[in-house]
Amino acid sequence: MTGVTMEAELARAERAVAELAAGRGDRWYPLVHIAADAGWINDPNGLCHFAGRYHVYFQHHPYGAQWGPMHWGHVSSEDMVTWRHEPIALAPSLQEDRDGVFSGSAIVDGDDLVVFYTGHRWRNGVDEDDGNLQVQCVARSGDGTTFVKEGVVVTGPPELPHFRDPKVWRIGDTWYMVFGVCSADERGEVWLYTSTDGAAWEFDRVVFRDPDPEAFMLECPDMFPLGDKWVIVYCPMGPKPRGYGLRNGHNAGYVVGDWEPGGDFVPLTGFRPADWGGNYYAPQSFEAPDGRRIAYGWMGGFDHPIASMRDSWCGQLTVPRELGLGADLRVRSLPVREFAQLRTGTVDLGEVTIGRDEEVTLMPGLDAADIELTVPLADGDAERLGMVLRTDTGNEIVIAYDDQAGRVLIDRRRAGYGERGYRAAPVDGPVLELRIVVDRGSVEVFVGDGAECVSSLVFLGEGVRSAVLFAESGTARFTRAVAHRLGSIWEGV
Ligand code: FRU
Repeated sequence: MTGVTMEAELARAERAVAELAAGRGDRWYPLVHIAADAGWINDPNGLCHFAGRYHVYFQHHPYGAQWGPMHWGHVSSEDMVTWRHEPIALAPSLQEDRDGVFSGSAIVDGDDLVVFYTGHRWRNGVDEDDGNLQVQCVARSGDGTTFVKEGVVVTGPPELPHFRDPKVWRIGDTWYMVFGVCSADERGEVWLYTSTDGAAWEFDRVVFRDPDPEAFMLECPDMFPLGDKWVIVYCPMGPKPRGYGLRNGHNAGYVVGDWEPGGDFVPLTGFRPADWGGNYYAPQSFEAPDGRRIAYGWMGGFDHPIASMRDSWCGQLTVPRELGLGADLRVRSLPVREFAQLRTGTVDLGEVTIGRDEEVTLMPGLDAADIELTVPLADGDAERLGMVLRTDTGNEIVIAYDDQAGRVLIDRRRAGYGERGYRAAPVDGPVLELRIVVDRGSVEVFVGDGAECVSSLVFLGEGVRSAVLFAESGTARFTRAVAHRLGSIWEGV
């Protein structure tokens, strides 16, 4: 890219976002989820705590509400509660990243923040038809806002079509980098490199190869310790739907195993979905200063038009989720405790029994809410029970426990806009506990201790929205039915 400077590209991108933001429609724009001012976003990138603030970067197309040449957008927060939009951090400006500054991660290195990302090029200069040319690159910042690119640090065999999404961590003096690869025999793999200075990298091994022969590439791999195990999170490209799983064009999941530096990763589990919802992809984690492992996922999609595109924005991140590992080797994820600071008012129905095919309003007139429901299942005989989010103009989405399927689901059939269909997570145990985070354009459902989640974008039609409890074809006793209204995460709003 001769004659192009990142500075000029960033200024051009900022002007484009400002223009889009001036015409942004807010009916579904998130109050409690990270999104760009306007334009498209996908994967969370570069998650870190640096110079006293949490930083979240993300894949960003500033020139429209569709995917396009990738930049890194940026927001930051002192407390993980209130956020501010920061200037766009990275833009294509090198030969090696001329078609996109793709996903990557961050490491605090002394006084600097170092980010690793994939420099992306279309082989034919136009589209993916003739494959990609992808290399891992580095950029450095003293303040988290302004970056200087330091060029390519890892190149692969040039014939491999997918070679991207570096996730870096450090143990002692050794740096580790994993990224996703489509191998020469077209299988999805995670490759591990090591370094002593973050600049010179050596191939260590193929640390994970997906046993699923349908998976030809593993996007956005993450690898981190949880309890006394290691988790590899990845997003397999290729697998077709199986039962309730892998139903989206893009799905994220994980395996748990044993790993020590210098050794092989020994899987102890098979693949499990990280979230069963319609829109959860490319999650990335980081370690907070107090040692918590926190992850954000992307709520969006590449496969179908998204309703908010007509409002000049598209894509948001999930709420930050604290991860833990159960004795059953399933990952637990729940909103970080800071999230409760957004609560501004509470409705508590106490104990409430709902008669056969009856409804009880939990919270009238809501934008964003944090809802807690508990139902001892043996105390009623409803075939479905749960909560409807309904507009006064007749659109609704249903969040239900389905006793026949033994699952918790989000059904978007009558949402009004956007994709339909339902997604469902398995439930076990005699007491159903749900935590439901409702925003203007999304719902995240956490089941029990967070072993299962269901997260989907939901684009309800216009009108005032209410949360209503229901029991279908039988009765249900709620021993806890609490709804907290939520204020905005955005500074000054
Ligand atoms: C996943 C992904 C990554 C890539 C980025 C490009 O959503 O395809 O593999 O780095 O998005 O925007």
